[in-house]
Amino acid sequence: ARSFSTTLPQNDSQPYQPKGTPDIDPSALTIERTTTPKPLLDSKDLIFGRNFTDHMLSIEWTAQDGWLPPRITPYQNLSLDPSACVFHYAFTCFEGMKAYKDPQNRIRLFRPDRNMYRLNRSSSRIALPTFDGDKFTELIAKFVELEERFIPKQKGYSLYIRPTMIGTQNTLGVGPPGSALLYVIASPVGPYYPTGFKAISLEATESAVRAWPGGVGDRKLGANYAPCIVPQIDAAKRGYQQNLWLFGEEGYVTEVGTMNMFVAWVNEEGVKELITAPLDGTILEGVTRESILALAREKLVPEGWAVSEKKYTMAQMKKAADEGRLLEAFGAGTAAVVSPVKAVTWRGEEVKIPLSPGKETGPLAESFWNWMLAIQYGEVDHPWSQIVSK
Ligand code: COI
Repeated sequence: ARSFSTTLPQNDSQPYQPKGTPDIDPSALTIERTTTPKPLLDSKDLIFGRNFTDHMLSIEWTAQDGWLPPRITPYQNLSLDPSACVFHYAFTCFEGMKAYKDPQNRIRLFRPDRNMYRLNRSSSRIALPTFDGDKFTELIAKFVELEERFIPKQKGYSLYIRPTMIGTQNTLGVGPPGSALLYVIASPVGPYYPTGFKAISLEATESAVRAWPGGVGDRKLGANYAPCIVPQIDAAKRGYQQNLWLFGEEGYVTEVGTMNMFVAWVNEEGVKELITAPLDGTILEGVTRESILALAREKLVPEGWAVSEKKYTMAQMKKAADEGRLLEAFGAGTAAVVSPVKAVTWRGEEVKIPLSPGKETGPLAESFWNWMLAIQYGEVDHPWSQIVSK
């Protein structure tokens, strides 16, 4: 198994962070509890990202003093100067991770090291500070333990955790922020799409581009998301849940923006293949993506499947559908987990994607869903799932 570090490779570390300033220090944590606990919602009333827990975790940073003592406080508004650089030049990046309840009622996080690595990759790209991922994970674990009652027990439901880093320096000058805030909020969630756990329809989008070579599409920056909303509204008007972002004249299939995209087909060589776009700088390095690839290599390759991280086009997908070789398609992400796709409309034509008879999923998406959830909810022992409660 590959092992990963939560800190950055040397050549990718934050260039503006003065050496020798203090890193995040979990032992300095202070906790101020709320005096007005919120009522818990019924799981059927959970709308993704609308309701938050009682508290938040905050860690301030200054270029001079490094990371200041972490604080857990009641969930509250931020107070920022209108000139704060986050509002003007998009100094903001974030993560999505989840906490789960296992059958023994313990709290589990799924591969938090991958989120820490990625947040450091994101922050360093926009001149925000980096940090020790293990120490930040320790604090997130404490925060999640405090919010334990908000973690839904039902499978498919979890506590979505949103670590966020923003530049807080008050200046309209364009330069590296001299101060930053790293904070964590959490939201009990069920299915990401309002349609529930159902297969979705996508519109292949060529009129706008999500990411490009040399750009920042592989970093989880706030700036990657806002520009996708107008195309999303346009697609929604035509009845599609999301855009499938294509790239270039060739119409390469990239990702969905809220999820990475997987396609299963019998390829031109007659081999069953699970394919997803390669990490060429335009694709978000999804933790679910990486996990599905690992599971596929473990479970599908012995059954004769090829598993590929390779460029593929919408034309190839349509050809496979026309020739009856298209087996399945699904999106994969932390928020959406595994989300079966039933159709992609491209240049006005609908490419239909098979589902299992009478089901809202195909067999592969169903298997990945089951494998992933069994690990995430601690029903099987797996090194990806980390117990964070006693
Ligand atoms: C996630 O899957 O966690 C995401 O960040 C996608 C979206 C909700 C922004």
